[in-house]
Amino acid sequence: MKTGKLTGAKKNENRVELTFEEAVITIEVITENIVRVLNPCWKADYASIAIEKNVSIGTEFSFAEEKDKICIETSDLKLEVGDDFAFSFYDKSGKCLLSSYSGKRVIKETISEKTKKLLEAEGHKAAGGSKDYAVQVLFNRCGDEFFYGMGDKTGFLNKGGYAYENWNSDIPQLHNETMPALYKSIPFVMVKKTEGQPYGLFFDNTFHSYMDFGKENSSYFYYGADNGNLDFYFMTGDHLKDIVGKYTYLTGRAPMPQLWTLGYHQCRWGYENAEDIRKVAHLMRENHIPCESVQYDIDYMDGFRVFTWDEENYGPKGQLINELKQDGFKAVCIIDPGVKKDEGYFMYDEGIRNDYFAKDKDSEVYVNEVWPGDAVYPDFGREEVRKWWGDSHKILTDMGVQGIWNDMNEPASFRGPLPLDVQFHIGDRLTDHSEVHNVYGHFMSMGTYEGMKKITGKRPLVITRACYAGSQKYAAVWTGDNQSVWSHLRMLIPQLCNLGMSGFTIAGTDIGGFGGDSNAELMVRWVQAATFSTFFRNHCAKGQIMQEPWEFGEKVVRIYRKYVELHYRFLPYIYDLLHESQENGLPVMRPLVLNYDDDANTYELNDEYMVGENILVAPVVDQGVTKRMVYLPKGTWVDYWTKERYQGESYIIADAPIDTLPMYIKENSIIPMYENVQYVGEKAYDKLELLVAGKEAHYTHYQDNGEDFKYMDGEYNLYTFDWENGELKTNLVHEGYEKYKTVEVNVI
Ligand code: GLC
Repeated sequence: MKTGKLTGAKKNENRVELTFEEAVITIEVITENIVRVLNPCWKADYASIAIEKNVSIGTEFSFAEEKDKICIETSDLKLEVGDDFAFSFYDKSGKCLLSSYSGKRVIKETISEKTKKLLEAEGHKAAGGSKDYAVQVLFNRCGDEFFYGMGDKTGFLNKGGYAYENWNSDIPQLHNETMPALYKSIPFVMVKKTEGQPYGLFFDNTFHSYMDFGKENSSYFYYGADNGNLDFYFMTGDHLKDIVGKYTYLTGRAPMPQLWTLGYHQCRWGYENAEDIRKVAHLMRENHIPCESVQYDIDYMDGFRVFTWDEENYGPKGQLINELKQDGFKAVCIIDPGVKKDEGYFMYDEGIRNDYFAKDKDSEVYVNEVWPGDAVYPDFGREEVRKWWGDSHKILTDMGVQGIWNDMNEPASFRGPLPLDVQFHIGDRLTDHSEVHNVYGHFMSMGTYEGMKKITGKRPLVITRACYAGSQKYAAVWTGDNQSVWSHLRMLIPQLCNLGMSGFTIAGTDIGGFGGDSNAELMVRWVQAATFSTFFRNHCAKGQIMQEPWEFGEKVVRIYRKYVELHYRFLPYIYDLLHESQENGLPVMRPLVLNYDDDANTYELNDEYMVGENILVAPVVDQGVTKRMVYLPKGTWVDYWTKERYQGESYIIADAPIDTLPMYIKENSIIPMYENVQYVGEKAYDKLELLVAGKEAHYTHYQDNGEDFKYMDGEYNLYTFDWENGELKTNLVHEGYEKYKTVEVNVI
């Protein structure tokens, strides 16, 4: 992007407008450690979709014009900008954190037709040449950067050396580490160097975009986009945790969920009638595996028409839901965006009558194909359409539905992708699919969340497959159609950790794998690895072998139950972390690097994770393995099972027979636990157990009704627990809810 020489600079409140020969770029000081850089090469009056509130707080900063550069300095960072938009960000000590790359991209050469044919003869594919993007910025790469974030991208924790695209994609093929894109677009990356402060970059642009972390050339990394503005936020802080905090300060934090939604869910695209669902529900209880919902995939609908119910196969509306409710099951139903093109079907008729569907370039309602056959796409970027959609959920809630699972909202289409010129809106502004694609799932979740909140008054459970930065305010996510292979079990750790660092504190993968046939060992290791995930669901596809735990025999049931129960035992700890996250944006499931970013041994740890600060989990992610190496960071660690103590900053070999998930509790910590139940609500949680490790520990615990928004009016309790010399001191810092009858201490 050419800008030319810097010709002038003007300060206006928290902004500095830089005039170049060929561009005007605005630097906005958001806080002392967040700066926005905007080159409105596309639209000056663009309102962010990810950032909904005014985030700019009056921040003092100095602004100086020097000979050939301008200098903007806050208490925490300094930015220098010169000709051709050459820039450098410095930390408060004057150390350069990030600077623009002044060379040109080395665009890969396209190979000759002859070579291409030769490659293709054996079935290979040429990578092809790359091109400069309409929007593009290059950064110097020092070589010792580790890149984290980017949402659900495949592969490893550290994204260095890989290239990605942000273009929400429905990918049924085996997800592997070279895939550029999956279902979500979160153009946020955190960079940690071996030395010095970390920083974060959020590129707020919904068009198809590209991020290359040194794959094309090890001298630079870049961001590119097909259209839109160059609009990025640079943020820094002392630790990676601060960067997550700043990113979620900008894009918002996941609200408190209902407690039951954090429990276990069973699903299969393949429960084809009421009997199938009923049977699974009964077997969950018979096998004493705690469970909140047996989820309703698309077959519950009448001909895949959204907001309908197939009475022939699923019985009279509400009956099955009510029956299972008696046994503690909550109903969670899938809703896809595609509305069947079918005159006489109310959703289609209402949408046509009110002009709610996207149109093609000739202004005819655009039709593609999804599950119901010919289908049309609601124009969710319009508030009126979202409201209509949200209100339509009353049809489901009247039947007793309590949670909504949004799928196929990339949006998916079976007759080729939606052309880029399909017309959509953002607010009242007419635009097209190229801008809306990556936020289609975001707007759908937003409409669903707002509708469900208004109708039920409860904290909505919305699960979405596609989304954009900031969607965490409306929906939890799962990682889409994984497969029953060990590499996908292994990948769930970096994938969920990166989603967590990208704001999605409530996330999960399909336990056992969605596509392909699972097996006993894989099931057991999968449920162990996912034990602390915040969306905890076993799900698989039609045509694959059945995947409920009892399908693999008594031994699997026994081990599976052990870990589902363990998940339930730790629910108050998970809930506390989500509560804390309202303030700090930090996820429940964390890579070790997030907690120990001054320990280089953690930077590439792909097969361990932490739950908050106090639990370290090291799942087995390979077939046949019964011992594994575990890295323990600074401190003393207590083996949860054997109670053995280990000194940290060391590698140990952990025993991991098939029924054991290696888990360590940090010395000097308190972890709250609940007793076992078959489902949340089975009995009142009136006893709190405190698992205490060490001689001295402090912990803050949060308690509310786990359902609605009354906590916002003070209906909650906040306790602090201090453990010293074998004695527990309890302090009720805030009292606004029914207290526990008993608090029990269990010392490790
Ligand atoms: C998609 C979803 C999957 C679901 C299926 C049928 O593949 O990702 O979870 O079961 O559609 O609705």
